[in-house]
Amino acid sequence: MTRFSYLSYLKYLVAASSLLSFTQACNSDDQCSLNGICKNNACVCDPGWTGQDCGRLDLRPGPRLNGYNHTAEGTSSWCNGIIRDPKEKDKYHLFVSEFTHGCGLEYWTPYSHIIRAESNNPLGPYTYKQEIVPTFAHNPTVIWSEKDKKYLMYNIGCSQNVQSTCQGVNFTCGPGNSLNGESGISVWSSVDLINWTSSDQVFPGLDNKAWDADTTNPGPLHIRSPAGQAHLDETILSYRGCPYNCNGTELINIATATDYDDSYTPIHPRKPIFTEASEDPFFWVDKRGNFHILVHSLLPDAGFGDGPNVGRHAYSRAWDGPWTFNRETVAFNTTVEFSDGSSIDYYRRERPNLFFSEDSEMTPLFLSTGVQEVNSPASYSLIQPVGDSS
Ligand SMILES: *[C@@H]1O[C@H](CO)[C@@H](O)[C@H](O)[C@H]1NC(C)=O
Ligand SMILES: *[C@@H]1O[C@H](CO)[C@@H](O)[C@H](O)[C@H]1NC(C)=O
Ligand SMILES: *[C@@H]1O[C@H](CO)[C@@H](O)[C@H](O)[C@H]1NC(C)=O
Ligand SMILES: *[C@@H]1O[C@H](CO)[C@@H](O)[C@H](O)[C@H]1NC(C)=O
Ligand SMILES: *[C@@H]1O[C@H](CO)[C@@H](O)[C@H](O)[C@H]1NC(C)=O
Repeated sequence: MTRFSYLSYLKYLVAASSLLSFTQACNSDDQCSLNGICKNNACVCDPGWTGQDCGRLDLRPGPRLNGYNHTAEGTSSWCNGIIRDPKEKDKYHLFVSEFTHGCGLEYWTPYSHIIRAESNNPLGPYTYKQEIVPTFAHNPTVIWSEKDKKYLMYNIGCSQNVQSTCQGVNFTCGPGNSLNGESGISVWSSVDLINWTSSDQVFPGLDNKAWDADTTNPGPLHIRSPAGQAHLDETILSYRGCPYNCNGTELINIATATDYDDSYTPIHPRKPIFTEASEDPFFWVDKRGNFHILVHSLLPDAGFGDGPNVGRHAYSRAWDGPWTFNRETVAFNTTVEFSDGSSIDYYRRERPNLFFSEDSEMTPLFLSTGVQEVNSPASYSLIQPVGDSS
């Protein structure tokens, strides 16, 4: 070995060992956020997830023209979720909270109604098709229920006539909130995604001092993988609770019911599944049978325009815990890069919703969020590709 090559060999050893210490990140799959496998002390992330602990969504630049952005015509929207048509495979449905009368995000209550839009591309752009629930209706989350052989739509709201000029109004949809109708979760069902039948409120709030008297943000469990089938007998719903009139910290919990249209009961003891302030839970069981929740974080570096680290991930081997909230790695932030090279740093980015591959892998393919730009009252529904399978 010449002196030169011996030196390069030493350099190689140093580089290799520093690489080794960098990748020596795990002793178990839990340290890979249950989004991958711990192999030889390094996380091997599942498609769609990245980072040393597989805690970051592998977001990719997508087209600027995407999702449901009708702000140019004066219409704002917020939460959205993609469902592929069961018969016409090149048709996609988007269930969206849209604000009537040209009102912006500030007037989400009472101006939100739930609409359905369509596109031939899961990324969009989507075109308005029909109103599903008139004002006030908000926060639709649609899942396929294999047990019921129906689509279920969970949402909040109650019938409310609105003035034609945007103005705030105090009203209630039941116990838990007397100011803005946000408390109380309802469920609807449909076989064709077009004709929906109401089952009314299944999880109202409370008129007491409970930490979760105000119940909102329904996050039904997405069960698509074979490993999730074991849970078809239970109806499992994550939700965001906060004290009466939301005068206090917003936290996540889980409630269950025997059937989707029965009344839901929080798991015992009635306490948050993790202590980090959060809302907007999106809940799924993966291909290995592990459980995941994406949230809109209300930690000081996130919140409502307070910082970029808005998307956080929590995981558990059992649906009722113990849950681990990943404080290290941010699942997604307010920066969105587009395929034309442009990017936007949003003021607010919330309501995460994933669209998964339809094979048994449950690979996340698209992330839907509600977004609001800096210095704009308008908001829209953004869809971004995840990983290279999309
Ligand atoms: C959404 O529409 C508004 C108004 O046309 C536009 O300013 C904004 O750039 C659009 N967003 C994206 C991601 O293109
Ligand atoms: C709603 O009620 C709150 C608290 O009582 C009050 O401060 C606010 O002005 C009311 N808003 C409207 C639009 O009536
Ligand atoms: C809508 O669904 C309900 C309940 O399944 C059914 O009774 C009704 O006929 C349907 N209406 C249309 C227009 O398909
Ligand atoms: C809100 O909570 C604070 C402290 O938790 C309490 O002092 C205050 O009275 C509450 N306000 C209302 C309107 O309930
Ligand atoms: C958002 O995350 C991306 C990827 O980790 C990073 O490059 C970007 O700087 C982050 N944006 C902010 C505002 O922190």
